[in-house]
Amino acid sequence: MTSATWTAVDEYLCDRMLPRDPVLEATQRSAADAGLPAISVSATQGKFLHLLARIAGARRVLEIGTLAGYSTIWLARALPKEGRVVTLEFDPAHAEVARANIARAGFEGIVDIRVGAALETLPSLAAEAPFDLVFIDADKPSTPDYFRWAIKLSRPGAVIVVDNVVRNGDIIDASGKNQDVEGMRRFFDLLAAEPRVTGTAVQTVGAKGYDGFAIAVVT
Ligand code: SAH
Ligand code: DHB
Ligand code: MG
Repeated sequence: MTSATWTAVDEYLCDRMLPRDPVLEATQRSAADAGLPAISVSATQGKFLHLLARIAGARRVLEIGTLAGYSTIWLARALPKEGRVVTLEFDPAHAEVARANIARAGFEGIVDIRVGAALETLPSLAAEAPFDLVFIDADKPSTPDYFRWAIKLSRPGAVIVVDNVVRNGDIIDASGKNQDVEGMRRFFDLLAAEPRVTGTAVQTVGAKGYDGFAIAVVT
């Protein structure tokens, strides 16, 4: 079984369940045109996040790591009319691309992009809290800090999702050589030790290779 098979299966699944989507296609094209890295969630993963938000009945969503707004738009589409997404992005150039994509998707008044290092902007979100769903997908070494903030800013019953927790199996590398892996391992230590959350992780393969999501519920 190769990653070519995983990608072909993702294409099959998209073909069956995800109708052509000019807004999201334009989002991905604009990201490529602007030279942004191709590191958004895949289409099947984006829809997975969208469905999680619907299952949770989310009204307020917090995203850490916007890039071009691809996952942001999937999440915004899950919300009722009065729903809100706050999305945190360090890079002003990424935020600019995302702003145009979010406007094209019709979510200008729904999505609030906060530009800056997330650890600087998170403390200012008390007025927007509590969130019903938090998606953590920014710089990996800070994931444990983002997870602490996610718990602090969430209501009981909220869902916290963390991307890239497996990274081609690197998560089991205990050598400490890779700061991204170290961040994710510290995140799992925290998840295991934190009495206010219960969680699991699911490994994934597909168009984005071999990786995984962690999911936790705040009690
Ligand atoms: N969630 C997006 C992908 C995000 S990629 C999607 O699936 O479509 C990760 C993003 O996190 C990048 O845009 C990067 O600039 C941003 N980022 C990196 N460090 C950050 C920080 N300290 N604070 C906020 N965002 C950060
Ligand atoms: C990278 C970041 C991501 O959020 C992702 O989903 C894939 C790759 C990266 O920084 O390489
Ligand atoms: Mg990611």
